[in-house]
Amino acid sequence: MKNTTQYNHARRGFIKASASLALGLALPSLPPFLSSALAKGTKATKTTTLNNGIAIPLVGFGTSRMQGSECQKAVENALEVGYRLIDTAQMYGNESDVGNAINSALKGGKLKRKELFITTKLSSDMSYEETLKATQESLKKLQIDYVDLLLLHRNFPQSVPMYKAMEKLRKEGKIKSLGISNFTPEVYSEFVKKCETPPVLNQMETHIFYQQKPLREVMKSYGTKLEAWSPFANGKNDFFANPTLVSIAKKHGKTPAQIALRFLVEQDIIVIPKTSKKERMIENISIFDFALDNTDREALNSLDTNEPLFKWF
Ligand SMILES: NC(=O)c1ccc[n+]([C@@H]2O[C@H](COP(=O)([O-])OP(=O)(O)OC[C@H]3O[C@@H](n4cnc5c(N)ncnc54)[C@H](OP(=O)(O)O)[C@@H]3O)[C@@H](O)[C@H]2O)c1
Repeated sequence: MKNTTQYNHARRGFIKASASLALGLALPSLPPFLSSALAKGTKATKTTTLNNGIAIPLVGFGTSRMQGSECQKAVENALEVGYRLIDTAQMYGNESDVGNAINSALKGGKLKRKELFITTKLSSDMSYEETLKATQESLKKLQIDYVDLLLLHRNFPQSVPMYKAMEKLRKEGKIKSLGISNFTPEVYSEFVKKCETPPVLNQMETHIFYQQKPLREVMKSYGTKLEAWSPFANGKNDFFANPTLVSIAKKHGKTPAQIALRFLVEQDIIVIPKTSKKERMIENISIFDFALDNTDREALNSLDTNEPLFKWF
């Protein structure tokens, strides 16, 4: 019991120190083993490069099911502890709240616009003209001149004209990158043939139980990356108590959440975990100071059922 308490205390200290590092703040004095872990380079904002040459953070912050002041505060906290990618959508009804948080970080001089990576999604079926208008409304709510990434929230009857309108907005500088979400391998393969520029990423349900291997294979030739929504399966299947995750976490002195995210990020999958709690925000982004080994990977690969746990679209 004493050992567990000491371990938890040390881990909390480590998490706080990692956040300080992300913010460039002075570090508190640390026990030697923590200092050496940090010297190895704990980085909150490692990036990967999209097929258009733009860098995207590997760990972002999800905002679904949060609205109003709860959402604004959560995004402010996320920015404060080192998140730079914020994921929202028209459907979440919180673009204005996300916008307030961005605005306060930019106005306060804490961050520059170019340091942020803001994603939103077109959540309903629209014509070409309606897409232009709806994107403009999102920009207004988000209080920014451009979004870094605009996604089709799912495949709609008018996905092709919607994407064409997104191309126009990209050329005008109002969107930096275009992407999709919830496009299965079959739908993706048909859609990509009709695109002037291939989607930079496809945001899909992805976690240890549904690893999207066939989709990744199909997207490879166009350089479309996978972005994982619900990387914790939103807690389903007793996610955080999964015996494989727990045992690998103990081995590395990490948490099950950190193992689940690290497993995806090591495969170049972008993750956007959601939490309303600041301590967990720090925990979820502090995954760049250790590596899984082959035994860990084999065990985690074997959890894949290739079946979704959610079927909303
Ligand atoms: N494109 C799409 O169709 C689509 C669909 C679903 C989601 N998304 C995006 O993906 C994001 C993430 O997905 P999600 O919100 O469904 O689920 P998730 O990130 O898989 O899981 C969130 C749940 O895990 C808990 N949690 C977070 N960190 C934890 C930690 N370190 N330890 C223990 N529990 C932890 C959270 O609780 P607390 O908040 O209490 O910490 C919350 O209940 C969304 O916010 C959204 O941006 C996109």
